[in-house]
Amino acid sequence: MLNIALPKGRLGDKVYELLDSIGYDCRDIYLDNRQLIFENEATGVRYFLVKPSDVAIYVEHGAADIGIVGKDILLESGADVYELLDLHIGKCRVCVAGKNDYREDIGRRLRVATKFVNIAKGYYASINREIEIIKLNGSIELAPILGLSDVIVDIVESGKTLQENNLKVLTEIVPISARFIANKSAYKFKQNEIDTMLAMLADKLEK
Ligand code: PRP
Repeated sequence: MLNIALPKGRLGDKVYELLDSIGYDCRDIYLDNRQLIFENEATGVRYFLVKPSDVAIYVEHGAADIGIVGKDILLESGADVYELLDLHIGKCRVCVAGKNDYREDIGRRLRVATKFVNIAKGYYASINREIEIIKLNGSIELAPILGLSDVIVDIVESGKTLQENNLKVLTEIVPISARFIANKSAYKFKQNEIDTMLAMLADKLEK
């Protein structure tokens, strides 16, 4: 059995469709219930539905052999896993954003609201800018509007959330897409199964 951690929600739906399309189906996943584990003995897969930000943790600790996760989560967690394939779905960007009329005061320490603390710290260290991090867990866009922070570091996909809140992208830090990851020892013991799946995915992505 291959144990696969799938992110719940938007990205998870797309990823599952992709896996289904190459033969790794598990019909019950389409049932509208609260089940978190789906297994198909015939196809040899067991899916775990986990919070997107937890996928890398399940894989790093070996609770799942493989997982599909956004590059943002991988960068933020620093998880010690193999990153084996870029699936080119779930594309977005991690950006610095601020109010439309934002003017930077370089004489002051910058207050940065984000859930991507490590990505934000890494970016500002790379440009030698002193910052104060304000860690939030969602609706990050509110922070500069309410004066809680000067800027935010967050995911931008369509740009709609920024636009509808009178905010704009100031800098793009890194482009993001979904990645296929594997636990390091699982990749030794289940290399054949994992490589077979990888080859089918790579083939499907080329078409
Ligand atoms: C993410 C991100 C932005 C939004 C960007 O939020 O934090 O708020 O999507 O998408 P857009 O550019 O297409 O508008 P998510 O929906 O993950 O919820 P969150 O507020 O809990 O982070």
